[in-house]
Amino acid sequence: MLWHRLARLAACLLIVVATERAMPAGQAPMPAVPAAPILAPYVPTPPDVVERMLKLAGVTKRDVVYDLGCGDGRIVIMAAQKFGARGTGFDINPERIKESQENAKKAGVEELVTFKLQDVMTADLSRATVVSLYLLSSSNMKLRPILTRQLKPGARIVSHAFDMGDWEPAKIDKFTDELGIGRTLFLWKADGVARQ
Ligand SMILES: C[S@@+](CC[C@H](N)C(=O)[O-])C[C@H]1O[C@@H](n2cnc3c(N)ncnc32)[C@H](O)[C@@H]1O
Repeated sequence: MLWHRLARLAACLLIVVATERAMPAGQAPMPAVPAAPILAPYVPTPPDVVERMLKLAGVTKRDVVYDLGCGDGRIVIMAAQKFGARGTGFDINPERIKESQENAKKAGVEELVTFKLQDVMTADLSRATVVSLYLLSSSNMKLRPILTRQLKPGARIVSHAFDMGDWEPAKIDKFTDELGIGRTLFLWKADGVARQ
């Protein structure tokens, strides 16, 4: 009986040691976000369109830019590189977060930007002065109560391609991008009014 117990204990210890050796601290794979809603598939915004979004939002070095569904991190990285802004990108895909961190390092802006593996529906957005979106209209509508409750008056929201229901944008920018594709950008300003 005692031998059986000792043998089981030894087997458990072996498994723990083997697992730690195979996966040293800091190299464990990031877990996916459980039960997070998929608000949009991964489709990156082309760089010239990213720049136009940041200009439409009037981003400066005083801003804190949050990209909700950041893909490879390009929006917050450009905001840091070209405009000196700080930023945070959120995504539910661990590969996207890894790419974003690598891209920030390559761009030399890792001091200014952070990337989080997190469902944006659970994110605290209160520190953002600019929020960028490239999701879907239905997803923008899911985020609308959160954005309008949490953002401080004066914060800007810029969306590539998708509107936010009956909330009239302050500006709409329609243009043809460098690839000859028609684009529409929307800009809203938080005004302290909570909208469902
Ligand atoms: C259309 S891509 C936009 C990528 C980037 N913002 C851009 O414009 O290049 C949408 C991104 O949102 C992410 N996403 C979808 N649902 C999400 C959720 N619930 N929380 C965080 N990210 C999400 C996807 O993984 C994808 O990378």
